[in-house]
Amino acid sequence: MKNTFKLKTAFACVVAAGLASSAFADADTDKLVINGEIDIITTTVAPAHLENVDTIYSGWHFRSDETQAFQMDDFDNPGMIGVEKASENWDTVDGSEGKSCASCHGEAESMAGVRAVYPKYNEEKGKVTTLAMEVNNCRTERMGAEKWKYTGGTMTDMVALISSVSRGMPVNVAIDGPAQSTWEQGKELYYARTGQLELSCANCHEDSYGMMIRADHLSQGQINGFPTYRLKNTKLNSAHARFKGCVRDTRAETYNPGSDEFIALELYVASRGNGLSVEGPSVRN
Ligand code: HEC
Ligand code: HEC
Repeated sequence: MKNTFKLKTAFACVVAAGLASSAFADADTDKLVINGEIDIITTTVAPAHLENVDTIYSGWHFRSDETQAFQMDDFDNPGMIGVEKASENWDTVDGSEGKSCASCHGEAESMAGVRAVYPKYNEEKGKVTTLAMEVNNCRTERMGAEKWKYTGGTMTDMVALISSVSRGMPVNVAIDGPAQSTWEQGKELYYARTGQLELSCANCHEDSYGMMIRADHLSQGQINGFPTYRLKNTKLNSAHARFKGCVRDTRAETYNPGSDEFIALELYVASRGNGLSVEGPSVRN
């Protein structure tokens, strides 16, 4: 409690100075159109299940004009290099069955719409799965190939390729039916205070978005832009890698990427962005 108070006080001091010059101040007028043709919904009315927020914003709004500009043209977006690498992998035969992704799925464009509905309940597995899990499932069960590391570069590039062909489509993950219990688990994790700082995801990304923390501008922590190319580590980052970093910042023990907890959290966080466009690969600092 004490630490939360201190953090909040620290927030309050920098807000006045920070907000005036921030890109977020222009959130109502800034528009993201990629390559002059893909309209991205970066702000919209919050989905009905969100109790404390009326309007949802893509993390794009919280970045500086320079960082925002990277995403307006694929030639300027460093995340597209990962997409190109994945396109080569898409066509590369691997494993004992002598197949590539293309052997069964055809062009990568056949994945249009898929990113918008993941994580999603998988009947056959009897659980909610992520895109990375689907990719590894195809590799091990259908290609006779080795798994890719969950948050490794090869996997994250592939998820970026699959995401890129859904850009502009509204995120629309299902939270009811067989996905409901997983969604509820994710919601609990989102509101649970953890670590020495006793902070929940909500303390920062719901109560304090728009404010400054450690010279960075707090967003709503949306994942419509994932995978995200971060200027800080100059690579594409998966949502689970980001969750891990955020939990660590509260000085708590974190869950592993690919764990049931992070899958549930991913579904819940994705659902907080239902209505925003798929934007990945996005660019952030
Ligand atoms: C032997 C055929 C085969 C190969 C090779 C294959 N897949 Fe699949 N894949 C399937 C089938 C069948 C499904 C389940 C039915 C569906 O959704 O199309 C599936 C499902 C998926 C899904 C989930 C799609 C959805 O709509 O929910 C993704 C993502 C995916 N595959 C990616 C890949 C990637 C990436 C590769 C290459 C690394 C690959 N697959 C290789 C057959 C294959
Ligand atoms: C102490 C405050 C704090 C807490 C607690 C916190 N985060 Fe973050 N998070 C940040 C900061 C700072 C950033 C970088 C600026 C931004 O995009 O908000 C960030 C970024 C993110 C992003 C990237 C958003 C984008 O558009 O690229 C996601 C996703 C995210 N956080 C999710 C979470 C989740 C899920 C939790 C709970 C497990 C969490 N965060 C807890 C401070 C926090």
